[in-house]
Amino acid sequence: MRIDDKPAARLKELGVELRAGVSLTEQTSLGIGGTTDELLLRRYETIPDVMRLLADEKIRHRFLGGGTNVLIADGELSSVMLHLPKAHPGMRVEGNAAFVDASADLGGMVTFCGKRDLGGMEGLIGVPGSVGGALRMNAGAYGMQIGSYVREVEVYRAAAGEIETLRGNDIRFDYRHTSFAPDDVMLRVKLELPSKPYQEILAGIRVCNEKRRSSQPVNQKSAGCIFKNPAGGSAGRMIDELGLKGHRVGDAMISDRHANFFVNTGHASCSDMLKLIEDVRERIHRAYGIVLENEVIVWQN
Ligand code: EPU
Repeated sequence: MRIDDKPAARLKELGVELRAGVSLTEQTSLGIGGTTDELLLRRYETIPDVMRLLADEKIRHRFLGGGTNVLIADGELSSVMLHLPKAHPGMRVEGNAAFVDASADLGGMVTFCGKRDLGGMEGLIGVPGSVGGALRMNAGAYGMQIGSYVREVEVYRAAAGEIETLRGNDIRFDYRHTSFAPDDVMLRVKLELPSKPYQEILAGIRVCNEKRRSSQPVNQKSAGCIFKNPAGGSAGRMIDELGLKGHRVGDAMISDRHANFFVNTGHASCSDMLKLIEDVRERIHRAYGIVLENEVIVWQN
């Protein structure tokens, strides 16, 4: 999607930086994705105006966070990619509360809070991505999930065209699912974290890092787990049991370390990855009678 000169000039007035014709292969952990214009927002307050402008001009858009849990279509994309304002460090702590921008790095948040003796989120170390993406999906690992610590979330509510603050108690955080509307955009979060000495947090972080390195292909291009675990089961174990590790479509391959991670071993396309996903879903259905649900978010054109 290419933005014409007229809307480009109006976006500039709103302080938005336009980057034309960007390839998303470099912006996703899978190394897959087509080309489009990118808009970098400078201030949260301008979001409602920017969104109105895009609607007026009929410019389709999506917000791209860390790019670590998405599979994006190949070729010229029909939506522009929006990026939230990025501040450094984009977080601060006050007593047991942490105030964090959605664009902040998730692992960076765990260590930032840890160094200030606030713990609980050690399991999230090594989960790549942004805080906003983690909130939307209720990211979790090693027995914890981010939703447990959320007290408030500031969101842009597309339905109302406004920025609103939601209370943690009014949001449902389930397994890799939340009650946010699909077009809500996470902007900032307030977390309440338990006090813990940094040395203890660091020890927890080391254990999680070690577990992750020994069971997941951390140095390969992936989007984490492709499927959600079915109730009471493990998608990774089921795929492994069918002997599918190393199975591939083009350069899209089932990791030989963890069968629920599909890796890009070279120049995999979105369509290779989608074929592999559908093939595995069908095989699991035939073998176990279970239809696996995607954990990875797919952006078709
Ligand atoms: N297993 C196999 N073969 C495999 C992979 C796993 O036999 O190839 C077995 C393991 O030995 C273990 C069981 O399956 O007995 C579960 O595996 P694991 O502990 O690796 O956990 P998981 O259920 O596969 C979940 C999350 C991960 C998270 C880990 C650690 C989902 C879909 N996955 O994986 O999250 O890192 O637990 O807490 O919920 C993600 O969301 O992208 C993700 C990677």
